[in-house]
Amino acid sequence: MKVVVTGGLGFIGSHTVVELQNEGFEVVIIDNLSNASEKVLDGIYNITGQKPLFEKIDLREKSAVQHFFKKYHDVVGIIHFAASKAVGESVENPLLYYENNINTLVYLLQELTALPQANFIFSSSCTVYGQAEKMPITEDASVQPAMSPYGNTKQIGEEIIRDTAKVTNVNAVLLRYFNPIGAHASAEIGELPLGVPQNLVPFITQTAMGLREKLSVFGNDYPTPDGTCIRDYIHVVDLAKAHVIALQRLLNEQNVEKVETFNLGTGTGSSVLEVIHAFEKVSGQKLNYQIVGRREGDITSAYASTNKANTVLGWKAQLSLEEALASAWKWEQKIRS
Ligand code: UD1
Repeated sequence: MKVVVTGGLGFIGSHTVVELQNEGFEVVIIDNLSNASEKVLDGIYNITGQKPLFEKIDLREKSAVQHFFKKYHDVVGIIHFAASKAVGESVENPLLYYENNINTLVYLLQELTALPQANFIFSSSCTVYGQAEKMPITEDASVQPAMSPYGNTKQIGEEIIRDTAKVTNVNAVLLRYFNPIGAHASAEIGELPLGVPQNLVPFITQTAMGLREKLSVFGNDYPTPDGTCIRDYIHVVDLAKAHVIALQRLLNEQNVEKVETFNLGTGTGSSVLEVIHAFEKVSGQKLNYQIVGRREGDITSAYASTNKANTVLGWKAQLSLEEALASAWKWEQKIRS
């Protein structure tokens, strides 16, 4: 069975391609290489012994998308990762984000509705909940006004898919990720942030490697036990596996609604200082860090209720924070060697 993975050379996409191939799917990757390298194909091959099909396509080009689906009319679903994800950049250049994340989604759905098997898995984010009132966050928590154009594209994206599914053959699973981190245990694939990393874990590993002088901890005056923000850090390999299970659910027609939503997290919140100390423990490196002021737009705390994903989807995160940090560190050392 052939599956399309857009953004399949990116961080979460590449790990999902590996898990799909492990489960016997044939994968066609669409990627425009704007934030990924073709070398990732070698990493995937080294793990699975198979090279996925790859089409360098920019999903903003509608005719290219149409052409692609003429060629691959026999696919059984689309897993859609391709999107821009830098919160700050989205504030500075909102139209880029609406074009990259919304136009592309519309073009894909237009083609999907013409396929016999219109299965769609969408990369959403816990950012749709904003600062939720209750922890852990369940899927029925209300969606809060988005704090950035990036966050807005995830909310609008979810709505576009719901509206489309109501009147077409589309069945979809919306996966709301908490904080994906880590790398494949083989260190053949991992996260490759362009420029200065915005996210915590790549900043930690680059600091430990000596590429950054020190890590800034954004605020220690939050109402949390140690004053730093709390997030739910989920190993990217666990996250990737959830996509395969979600696709199989649609293929086996086990979904009870045309559009289903699941949180993907571990259910455990960790503070920034806890992550730093866990990293120091697994790497044996002392990390140079300093407490600075809060970062604008950061929420105090977000961690998932995993109940629905565990019981309905039948998926549970297996890997620990320590395993995720150790794998991220192994990957960082490998790419700098
Ligand atoms: C952000 C986005 C989220 C997006 C995710 C992945 C928001 C509010 N958050 O999550 O939507 O899906 O990135 O791209 O839109 N921190 C430091 N120092 C650093 C970097 C981070 O202390 O140098 C802290 C942050 O204050 C935060 C935690 O580490 O408390 C995690 O930050 P980060 O990795 O950037 O993820 P989020 O902001 O949670």
